[in-house]
Amino acid sequence: MNGVRGLLPPLTTDPNGWEAAAKAVMEPRDFDYAKGGAGAGETIRKNREAFQKWSIVPRMVRGNTERSLKVTILGQEWPSPVAIAPVGVNKIFHPDGESGVARAAGAVGIPYVLSTFASEDPETVAAAQDSTSSSGPGVRWLQLYWPQSVDQDVTRSILKRAKDAGYTALVITLDIFSMSWRPLDLDNAYLPLYKGASTALGFTDPVFRRKFRERFGQEVDEDVLKGALEWENTIFPDMAHSWHELAWLKGEWDGKILVKGIQHATDAELAVQAGVDGIIVSNHGGRQYDGAQGSLEALHEVALAVGDRAEVLFDSGIRTGADITKALALGAKAVFVGRPVVYGLGARGEEGALHVLRCLLADLEINLAITGVRNVTDLVPDVLRRSDL
Ligand code: FNR
Repeated sequence: MNGVRGLLPPLTTDPNGWEAAAKAVMEPRDFDYAKGGAGAGETIRKNREAFQKWSIVPRMVRGNTERSLKVTILGQEWPSPVAIAPVGVNKIFHPDGESGVARAAGAVGIPYVLSTFASEDPETVAAAQDSTSSSGPGVRWLQLYWPQSVDQDVTRSILKRAKDAGYTALVITLDIFSMSWRPLDLDNAYLPLYKGASTALGFTDPVFRRKFRERFGQEVDEDVLKGALEWENTIFPDMAHSWHELAWLKGEWDGKILVKGIQHATDAELAVQAGVDGIIVSNHGGRQYDGAQGSLEALHEVALAVGDRAEVLFDSGIRTGADITKALALGAKAVFVGRPVVYGLGARGEEGALHVLRCLLADLEINLAITGVRNVTDLVPDVLRRSDL
């Protein structure tokens, strides 16, 4: 299908059209993997409905003709409160892969979070991001699944490589307890992780390769499936973890640490007490569990509980500038975008990802004008009204 890409019309500016544009050119199994959610898709639906429960109340004659999207997150200035969410195996969506998205991010100064299951290594993606950045090295973080305590050598190796390549923060994803019940993937008998596995970050790590050789007496590539299972055992979180184990990671990593997947104020409090620098309110875009509240519903209570003790960031369901405005007003300092960027990448590669990012930023800037504030940092709950009450 990639062969027809050059003949395709430009991507629409309509956020509702990006998914269809991706579907038109992507392999159906890969598209389903990107779109798919847990169970009957209720959490995905709730993620969108949560935004519709809030309305922006426009303000007039506020003199905000000059507006700024700048924010400072964990001591680093971002030109806008938008970042790329960690998404695995980007090469299955388009040959431009993680590097294509990172180049798009670099071009608009947007921070990039590299997934543990990235199909390219941290050094390559870092260089891609910096190649288009006009303001010095891009801001980049590494997402990590909370490692098991038994064998930390692979984690140590990845952390060192990330640090050397300029990744300044670790995002620990908490909401993967096991592979989720994701019907589209189950019906397609498809685990893209295995398709992209031979190039995934963990599989290419030299320490992982050495350990795999010692254990199985063969190279990883010879039996990708077996390697994937081994990787899961090595790096997937196990439920026996406790908050104080974050101390181990803090000992191994001298950058910032955030946790991703928080939906309850009590968990946010525990994370703060465990010493995290930031909390990402997220339900993994509805991919991990069904029947949950929309992620935005959790945001305000978490933001109130955390206060200024840690950064509060948000993802799950962001599709427009208005959505970003609402999340910021409810207490997020910045948001992460998942599927829209994947759809842009799938539809048109790097160019498509860049198009989606530019649309979101322009749309956000216009929304800021309507709220009457000058700086995104000035957005407060008063710019919104609950419209379902
Ligand atoms: C993800 N997400 C994800 N999260 C993570 O911590 N590590 C990962 O490897 C992945 N992989 C992944 C693959 C795909 C195809 C998608 C769509 C998502 C979740 C991601 O970081 C984010 O939480 C959601 O995508 C946010 O929701 P929206 O923006 O997709 O609605």
